[in-house]
Amino acid sequence: MKKTVNIKIGRNEDCPCGSGKKYKKCCEGIKKPIQVNLEKHYKKKYGIHLKNVEQIEGIRKAGILVVETHKLAEQYIKPGISTNEINDIIHEHTIKNGAIPAPLNYKGYPKSACVSVNDVICHGIPGDLILQDGDIVNVDITSILDGYYADSNQTLFVGTPGDDAKKIVQVVRDCFKAGMSMVKPGNTIGDIGWAIQDHAEKNNCSVVREFIGHGIGLDFHEAPQVPHFGKKGSGVPLVPGMVFTVEPMVNLGGPRLYILDDEWTAVTADGSLSAQFEETIVVTEDGYDSLTPMGI
Ligand code: MF3
Ligand code: CO
Ligand code: CO
Repeated sequence: MKKTVNIKIGRNEDCPCGSGKKYKKCCEGIKKPIQVNLEKHYKKKYGIHLKNVEQIEGIRKAGILVVETHKLAEQYIKPGISTNEINDIIHEHTIKNGAIPAPLNYKGYPKSACVSVNDVICHGIPGDLILQDGDIVNVDITSILDGYYADSNQTLFVGTPGDDAKKIVQVVRDCFKAGMSMVKPGNTIGDIGWAIQDHAEKNNCSVVREFIGHGIGLDFHEAPQVPHFGKKGSGVPLVPGMVFTVEPMVNLGGPRLYILDDEWTAVTADGSLSAQFEETIVVTEDGYDSLTPMGI
């Protein structure tokens, strides 16, 4: 079933029918619904590469491997394991399945996954740190399979969680779900961020601004940017074929952060706990389909 796509077009913009003429000199005056060439229109106006069926299936295959790698790593998350060992499990499983760990050497990143503990918001570099009972740990995995990228993360409890750990993980899980519930044609990127921010702040938590979701699929980070805060109805209208991540980072305290001297590790400025969930999704005719179904 084809649905009408609700997009606003400026009179001086290129006509979305793909003619190459200005909208005002082309389809503006025509009464019948215009045949929008969405692929060209989204590329030109937003730099967004809408994915075709073959590409979506490629990203889904990469996503299935990412989820499988998460399930494997999860089994090792216990007090006493080092973040380096988690990295190596992820690295080996990815390579064994003919894929490439996208983080390795990405803009100089030295490891195959991000493992972020407690007040580390994201981009924790695996090392000698040993997980302790009561920690929370965010494991972020991105794999490239046959040239297609899929990216997801989850925050897990190490041993028995305390009250603060339980709270922040529950709040960010519900933020993630609130954001996802906005993903359908007719809504915008801004609706996703609005829903996430609204839920976080109603629970006295805060949303990180410096890191956001992103288009993905043919590259690690593509257009559009997907902030986890913002105004209802703002930003790019969602249309079928858009593939992007939703990956809210929510802090128990304030939103400010520091980057450590390693130039990657982002920590909360006030030392409060931070948690995150992420999936790679594709917008469909009536909602979305997760390409990394994590069961969040
Ligand atoms: N996986 C992260 C994201 O969700 C990006 C990590 S970049 C790295 O976008 F270089 F740190 F791996
Ligand atoms: Co991501
Ligand atoms: Co990620």
